[in-house]
This record gives sequence, C-alpha cells and structure tokens, in this order.
Amino acid sequence: MKARFDVGRPLAADTTQVLGAYRAELLRWNRQINLVSRRDSEAVAEGLIRQCVGAFDRWWEASGAELVGPTATLRMFDLGSGGGLPAFVWLVLLKERGVKARATLVEPREKRAWFLEHIGRLPGAPGYDVLTARWGEAAVAAITDETAILFTLKALRLSESAILGGLAVAAGAPPPSPGVGIDIVRFQPTTGVTAAGLAASLETPPAGARHGAGFWNFESRGSRLLVPAAATPDAARGAGLFVSRHVLLREPG
Ligand SMILES: C[S@@+](CC[C@H](N)C(=O)[O-])C[C@H]1O[C@@H](n2cnc3c(N)ncnc32)[C@H](O)[C@@H]1O
Repeated sequence: MKARFDVGRPLAADTTQVLGAYRAELLRWNRQINLVSRRDSEAVAEGLIRQCVGAFDRWWEASGAELVGPTATLRMFDLGSGGGLPAFVWLVLLKERGVKARATLVEPREKRAWFLEHIGRLPGAPGYDVLTARWGEAAVAAITDETAILFTLKALRLSESAILGGLAVAAGAPPPSPGVGIDIVRFQPTTGVTAAGLAASLETPPAGARHGAGFWNFESRGSRLLVPAAATPDAARGAGLFVSRHVLLREPG
C-alpha cells in the first residue's frame, strides 16, 4: 500500500513525492546503518515521518510563523539528526511554505552523516549541510542575513546552555543584526511530561531572564509544551513539543 504522510491537511504533491523517496531510502539503508527500528520498519518509517509532519504544523501554527516573520528566512540546526528526523521532513515543509532555510544537520556518527548527505541528493530534496561532529565541537558557518534561528532535537537531550553555548563555536561571531529570535524545539512524549518539569531539568531560564551562553547573551521569552489535540488523527502517535524562545541581545558577553 502507498505510504501516506498527511496529518489533518493535504500535502502538496511534490512534498508527498520527496517524503516517499526519503522513506524508501530509510528502509533501503536501515539494515546497514540502523536508522529506525527493524521491527515492522515500513510502518515505523511511515509513522515517524507522519509524526514529524504533524509536529511541524503544530510548531508552525503556535510559534514558527511568528518566528520566521515576513522575511521568511531561517537558519536551522538539527542536533543529533540520525536518519534525518525531523530535519529532512521539516525542511521539505518549510520549502512548501516558501521559507528560505539554510540548514545544518549535526550528526557525529559517520555512517549516519553519509546517509544524510545521500538523501540530500534525492530529486526535490531540500538543500542543507551536514556537520559530522557533536554540537559545540566544530564550526559551521557564520550566521549572516537570517533573521531567525531554529534548533530541532528529537531523541537527543542537551541542556539549554549546551545548545545556545554551541552557537558561538559553530558560528564564530554573532549575527550582525541583534534581536534575532531563536526557537529551540525538542520532541517529547505526549504524556508524563510537564512544561515546568522540562524547563527545570533542561535549565530553561524563565521568561524575561537575561543569560549568557558561550560569550553570546540572550533574553528568554519563556517556554511551553505543545501537545496534539486528542481529536487530531495523529494523537496516538503524535509528539509533544517543548518549545523555548530566546532573543539574541546586542551587547557581547
Ligand atoms: C537517538 S538518535 C536520534 C536520531 C534522530 N533525531 C531521530 O529521532 O530519529 C540520537 C543521535 O544523536 C547523535 N548525537 C549524540 N550526541 C550528540 C551531540 N552532542 N551532538 C550532536 N549529535 C549527537 C547520535 O549520534 C545519534 O545519531
């Protein structure tokens, strides 16, 4: 049966096609590289892609559209990309929305990094770079004209300061225009977690707090937990999203 990736809204034909090609490559390389569970991997791969589609729409409506704003340019870092989730799916969906995203997929394991380069060559794939390193241990490229930054993390736990502190190593100098908004989006279970509990364990500063990380200074705009509405079709397999927002301040550390 043909895989379906739509969750609550139809996807553009190009989107469905490239996600189908991505799923096929996940399955083709799974045995050698161990990208998704090997039990019922066809259904698992489809379910994970759908989960990322539903999660993207939830983030976009609650936070993403406002973060990206009318300039529609975004610098994205997906930390611990593994087989490309959520980065590949989110970049396809950002493209569908007309957002110009410059993305880096950060993955220290070489075989997985190879796979990420490989799927980047699929017809219709979104453009991105792959950084074969742990976050905060290697440089990428300066943040130049983008007005918003997005971090995504799925199945990788890093504290707020480890994520924001890594920016100074990755990008060298702060962007020329302070005031850049930053969303950190972490995939979470839909039950058994609370926004307050996550904020405490990930050391997410409260709204209004000024904080430094890696010689750059930020102001926190708070954090929240987005969970799928019980009635949505992806509720059973959906993901919770813990979203924290920061703004880069003008003064250096
Ligand atoms: C459990 S996998 C999750 C992969 C993918 N995000 C997903 O949900 O399918 C976590 C990945 O993070 C990578 N990783 C571990 N520590 C990391 C770090 N400090 N920075 C970036 N990636 C890291 C691992 O190599 C691994 O591929």
